Amino acid sequence: ARAQGTGASRFTFKEVEAGVDANHHVAEGYDADILLRWGDGLFPDSPDFDPENQTPQAQERQFGYNNDYVGFIPINGSSEHGLLVVNHEYTNEHLMFPGIVTIKEASAGEPAELVVAPADRKRVDIEMAAHGGTIVEIRKEGGKWRVVREGANNRRITAQTEMLVTGPAAGHDRLKTNADATGTKVLGTINNCAGGVTPWGTYIMAEENFHGYFLGELPADHPEAANYERYGVPDGSYAWGEFHDRFDVSKEPNEPNRFGWIVEVDVNDPNSVPRKRTALGRFKHEGAESIVNRDGRVVFYLGDDERFDYVYKFVTAGTFDETDRAANMDLLDEGTLYVARFDEDGSMVWLPLVHGEGPLTAENGFNSQADVLIETRRAGDLLEATPMDRPEDIEPNGTNGRVYVMLTNNTRREEANAANPRVDNAFGHIIEIAEADGDFAATSGTWEVLLQCGDPSVAEVGATFSTETTRNGWFGMPDNCAVDADGRLWVSTDGNSPKSTGRTDGLFALDTEGEARGTSKLFFRVPVGAEMCGPLPTPDLTTFFVAVQHPGDGGEDWEGFGRPSYYEDLSTRWPDFEDTMPVRPSVVAITKQGGGKIGV
Ligand code: FEO
Ligand code: CA
Ligand code: CA
Ligand code: CA
Repeated sequence: ARAQGTGASRFTFKEVEAGVDANHHVAEGYDADILLRWGDGLFPDSPDFDPENQTPQAQERQFGYNNDYVGFIPINGSSEHGLLVVNHEYTNEHLMFPGIVTIKEASAGEPAELVVAPADRKRVDIEMAAHGGTIVEIRKEGGKWRVVREGANNRRITAQTEMLVTGPAAGHDRLKTNADATGTKVLGTINNCAGGVTPWGTYIMAEENFHGYFLGELPADHPEAANYERYGVPDGSYAWGEFHDRFDVSKEPNEPNRFGWIVEVDVNDPNSVPRKRTALGRFKHEGAESIVNRDGRVVFYLGDDERFDYVYKFVTAGTFDETDRAANMDLLDEGTLYVARFDEDGSMVWLPLVHGEGPLTAENGFNSQADVLIETRRAGDLLEATPMDRPEDIEPNGTNGRVYVMLTNNTRREEANAANPRVDNAFGHIIEIAEADGDFAATSGTWEVLLQCGDPSVAEVGATFSTETTRNGWFGMPDNCAVDADGRLWVSTDGNSPKSTGRTDGLFALDTEGEARGTSKLFFRVPVGAEMCGPLPTPDLTTFFVAVQHPGDGGEDWEGFGRPSYYEDLSTRWPDFEDTMPVRPSVVAITKQGGGKIGV
């Protein structure tokens, strides 16, 4: 790898001080305004948020829980008027519902424990309505953003919204259920983590940890047993299957094959049926950021966020038509999915996942392209792709022709390889790919580790931030990222905490070019217990939308930082700071005081 730089950062903002407290903090000279909170109304008829008396019907008309991916689709090319699209990844029952948590006090060497009461049907239906996504019109007036509740395209997508399965696996027997003999009609999308906006202005929702929503036991000797084991299904984190048969694999053994896909939504029609695009494979999809290649084909980069899983890309067969939006609407149904092998010499190969090629044959249980896509992970195993340290967001950079891969961590790694160079990798790293000849559709390329994350002052950690990076600027656990219109890289983190790194998560500006390469600066930090999602810069770079996810959720660190339940003494009441309000995941709009481009 190139030596990290010692030159001045291209980011001139004064960085935030790293630390932990109840509020968010943004760099001096910037405003960070709350735009949308869990429970906020999205339609003229939305009921006011009443957390003590929430209902599934109210939640369907309100902003959902745990905002993750944020996208902005300009209206008439504007950076001040557009549709905001937001994923609602999952729910935290202990923070959402009053009166369901008891604390089992510590005793006899056992730590204290949070005990959540068993779910009932109403609670499950609120959870299902709080999942999915939001599409909402927003407008900037007098320098401040506001939600346009009357927006004609405003929409909530939930775990109950009807969707159509398309592409090579659509209609396959392995996707058929009692409720859907066609194998094409699915209700809902779940655990939508990162995502994307396509060059033709549709909204991509990635289905990540779908295994958690299934419970029950597969019928004996069921043919999907090995498939499900590879994906960790069923996991039983949610009680949905107690009230909705389709989430109980003993009753609907094929339902898990209908999740783990990339979902595409046409935001210009609030009644459009979202498409599950099977050509992009089935795994724990982190996101799908794309770029129009020089030959007009569109290339999507895809991470499978699991320890020892893979990096993928999808290259459309057709080309993007800038002048005819309708002509692009099914581009995602045809193309080639590739999985990455990172070689020790710094080269790499993109291996095609095509039925009949190499080991992807009937001999190995793949009878069609549908089988290859339903069991994408096993196909990647047979092709000997490189097992990675949890691939999260991946973004191409059209300015410098490279691609950035966030690898969040992997404390179970016992054997290093060149692309995952640390065993017990607690703090993660970032890989930079250079596709052959700058061709994003190429089947080979080179790569290097841009950054090993963690505290640079602790030698054993092996962090490789530049020496210009201050004690505030380093981070662990990169998760989401953004390459902005100037080709600048922004990294947001998931897992920095009082216990892991002595700081909260945040948004960091990371230099990739010239003498400053490897210099990181803290631009925004979240309140205690939260994770940082986004950012999404508007095209003119004067607004960054960020999503603050699960504020107040201390996870394993909760002791000493307040008891993270609805009624108990929370470590934070962000963003309302009212005793009658629970903590609320929210989208924040960051602007520069007096206007202008962010970061400089
Ligand atoms: Fe939902 Fe991989 O983070
Ligand atoms: Ca995340
Ligand atoms: Ca991103
Ligand atoms: Ca993560």
